[in-house]
Amino acid sequence: MAKIIGAIGSSHIPAVGMAIAKQLQQEPYWKSFFDGHQPLWNWLNTNKPDVAIVFYNDHGLEFFLDKKPTFSIGAAEQYISYDEGWGLATIAPIQGDPDLSWHICNSLVEDEFDISICQELGVDHGLTVPMQLMFPGDPNYAGIKVIPVVINCELHPMPSLKRCYNLGQAIARAVESYDKDLKVVVLGTGGLSHQLDGQAAGRINKKFDLMLLDYLVKDPEYLFKYSIRDMIEAAGAQAVEFNMWMGMRGALPGKVEQLHLNYSVPISNTGAGTMLLSNT
Ligand code: DHB
Ligand code: FE
Repeated sequence: MAKIIGAIGSSHIPAVGMAIAKQLQQEPYWKSFFDGHQPLWNWLNTNKPDVAIVFYNDHGLEFFLDKKPTFSIGAAEQYISYDEGWGLATIAPIQGDPDLSWHICNSLVEDEFDISICQELGVDHGLTVPMQLMFPGDPNYAGIKVIPVVINCELHPMPSLKRCYNLGQAIARAVESYDKDLKVVVLGTGGLSHQLDGQAAGRINKKFDLMLLDYLVKDPEYLFKYSIRDMIEAAGAQAVEFNMWMGMRGALPGKVEQLHLNYSVPISNTGAGTMLLSNT
């Protein structure tokens, strides 16, 4: 049976992709952020997951303002990356697992979660930067296969924190009913404090970020009380990207332990969290 063995929360900031391209990892601005990934690399190397389910948001590459599914899932053989405007280099194609994708999609719809199923899906920095962070310098990404799960956080109305958590739980039920022996890791990318435009651009609410991360581990359902509006007022218009972390946490069954947390602030315009959770 397939088994979810751990979860990772990560950044997807385009400037991180730029720093990787220019090899700035040990520069003072970037050092603590990149060094904060060492425990993740160790864990991935030891546990060697076969599949990564990646909750991310598409920043207008595939789903622009004219078509905006709330939840979509990739079911392709592979995913090609494109730069949707940040000047980022593309990365090597990412391998999919269509059989597992279809199993998850069938299970979700049966479970009353209606999702858009994408047999082709170009991927932007929301997915590519985390792949570069998890598998630095490896165009094969340690052979891992990826199931992209895209959550709308660009165009209102956006799904609630509770809805994203419940989606994660439904995905976990699907994975656990899959009959192949696979080790699965779940990733949530984006956030945390985050305002890219307007007068409040660059505003960071560290206290709020740390509260979110704390409750995410110990009592995620406590966070259901925060509406999308509350998130925006507390930590910026793009702080809604925290929903990727809610999906990730919902998908991690069992008794959860935090193995690692790094919070670097500011990284570009955000509070950047890096988290490793285990349930084994
Ligand atoms: C930044 C962060 C993001 O999540 C994003 O999608 C684009 C830009 C930033 O902090 O610069
Ligand atoms: Fe983003």
